[in-house]
Amino acid sequence: MATTEPGYDFGDARFDLNDPSDREIVGFVLSQALFGEATGVYCGKSLYQARSLEAARFYVRQAHQELNHLEHFAAIFRLLEMTPEPGHWVIRLLSSHNNYYPLKVLMEHAIGEGMVLDIFKDVLQQCLPDDHPGVNKVKKRLRAISREEIEHVEWGEKETKYMLTQKPWLKYPYYGLLELQLMVAPLVLRPYQNRSKDHPVLSHLPKFVEHVNQRVWKQGQDMGFVPEQRPGLFKRVVCMAAGAALFVRSQLARADSTLDKTYIRELGFQR
Ligand SMILES: [Fe+2]
Ligand SMILES: [Fe+2]
Repeated sequence: MATTEPGYDFGDARFDLNDPSDREIVGFVLSQALFGEATGVYCGKSLYQARSLEAARFYVRQAHQELNHLEHFAAIFRLLEMTPEPGHWVIRLLSSHNNYYPLKVLMEHAIGEGMVLDIFKDVLQQCLPDDHPGVNKVKKRLRAISREEIEHVEWGEKETKYMLTQKPWLKYPYYGLLELQLMVAPLVLRPYQNRSKDHPVLSHLPKFVEHVNQRVWKQGQDMGFVPEQRPGLFKRVVCMAAGAALFVRSQLARADSTLDKTYIRELGFQR
């Protein structure tokens, strides 16, 4: 279960917000967060397919929260006197809206927002320097955002488990997609890997990526679709192909409405 406590210990590593190179790195991380929050607002689109009244309530609430997060991050940019840049292609790919509910709850909420939470509470909360005048207010906003992101991750985990009870075959593409997400996500850090050796924060990157991989792996096991032992290459490739095929289908699929078909039952009337 996700918490606001840091999962990875950066020790006393801090960014230097007076150093232009460090400001560029922090600006890059914050720009990805801002883009993610902007697309997070589109979860309102999920109302159309929300599988239950509870899901509809969740998406109304989440859209409101993501809109607030967008404004929190805009305030964070102003507090640090930075200007956002457009989102990285990896972030654009990972945050693209999914019309297929079983993939949405796994990829966007459980895994995607779980990784977002790792960045907010591990990298930003720990590594922004407290001696900068704006950082106290920045961290307050980050804590508020993280508390709500935890709810989004828990929702994704709960719905993913439910989807597996309804369609047990999903465990194969789910597992393949988890492998693919773990493969693609570190690409966003590639520009910083060359200059990471002597940097107090960036030198932690390989271990931090390893930590996130292990956390996501365990999360997949807790949700019930990641095996105890990592399968051999052939089985992994088959599952990744199944996951990729389902993802492509989900991007092409037409969204089917739900509540107009289920509202009588959902409201507690028998028919
Ligand atoms: Fe958010
Ligand atoms: Fe979120």
